[in-house]
Amino acid sequence: MISLKDVVKTYAPNKELAVTAINGVSLDVERGEFLVIIGRSGSGKTTLLNLVAGLTKPTSGEVLLESVNLWSLGDREQSLLRNQKIGFIFQFPSLLPSLTALENVALPTSFGPESKKDGAYARASHLLETVGLTDKLNAYPRQLSAGQQQRVVIARSLMNQPEILLADEATSNLDEETEKEIMALFQKIHASTGVTILMVAHSTYLADYATRSIRMANGAISASSKVTGSGTVYSSPPTTVVTAPAPVLPPPPEKLTTGSGTVYSSPPTTVATAPASVPLPPPEKLTTRAGKRRIRS
Ligand SMILES: Nc1ncnc2c1ncn2[C@@H]1O[C@H](COP(=O)(O)OP(=O)(O)OP(=O)(O)O)[C@@H](O)[C@H]1O
Ligand SMILES: [Mg+2]
Repeated sequence: MISLKDVVKTYAPNKELAVTAINGVSLDVERGEFLVIIGRSGSGKTTLLNLVAGLTKPTSGEVLLESVNLWSLGDREQSLLRNQKIGFIFQFPSLLPSLTALENVALPTSFGPESKKDGAYARASHLLETVGLTDKLNAYPRQLSAGQQQRVVIARSLMNQPEILLADEATSNLDEETEKEIMALFQKIHASTGVTILMVAHSTYLADYATRSIRMANGAISASSKVTGSGTVYSSPPTTVVTAPAPVLPPPPEKLTTGSGTVYSSPPTTVATAPASVPLPPPEKLTTRAGKRRIRS
């Protein structure tokens, strides 16, 4: 469904400042996959999503959506395709402060075909219900918590019933509990709609919510893995298979009780996940259950 072929992206505002953000990436994502992209700051994750969305033009190589090279299309065709097929959750806050939650969610329809405008508010309202915000339809972004705002953004990204959802650090400014709730919401959306998800995530453990994960380093894919019920299996570099990284809980911390409460002498929530390594079988094409699912639209 999505195919990147030897893509290079160099930002070159001038010769001295040229940065190669993506350095020869080839990647195929099948319909219905839930792919998590992990990597250090500056490794090229946002650039990769922008390339898939057609927001950034590759310096060389090809980005194909269902065999169509986005950059072979005219401006109008390209933005129509983007609007109809892709939902985008940006890394930075993107709700319009002067619109209510309901109006923000309904907004993408104003750029789409007339046929989709009918019932836009009913659909927006339904989506807000799906993300658990029935009671916040008329709230403005400033009246919502960060987690609630992120739910509105997720609802908005689904408004045009996209086939592809691109999410850039959708949970990075949330506490761990809210992050888990939002990730469970993505899983629910993925299971019920079959939408293909590419999600940039900052924590390795978020890969457990996906069907596959890749790691980026210096603009290249340094590892690719299939996430199974029993853990994460690496298929291409590194040359080891990482099996079931079952969390190993540390022994209970020693408690020190003071007059004002309990003080832990070591952090109580540390989880060690050191996986065992075994030799790698030959790399193989990975298929997923979700990959075979068809889109309902
Ligand atoms: N518009 C731009 N102009 C020039 N350089 C850019 C531009 N956008 C990104 N870069 C550079 O490209 C590299 C990759 O940036 P990118 O935003 O893709 O990283 P990232 O992995 O998303 O990082 P983060 O985790 O911090 O969001 C960085 O070195 C960055 O400075
Ligand atoms: Mg980024």
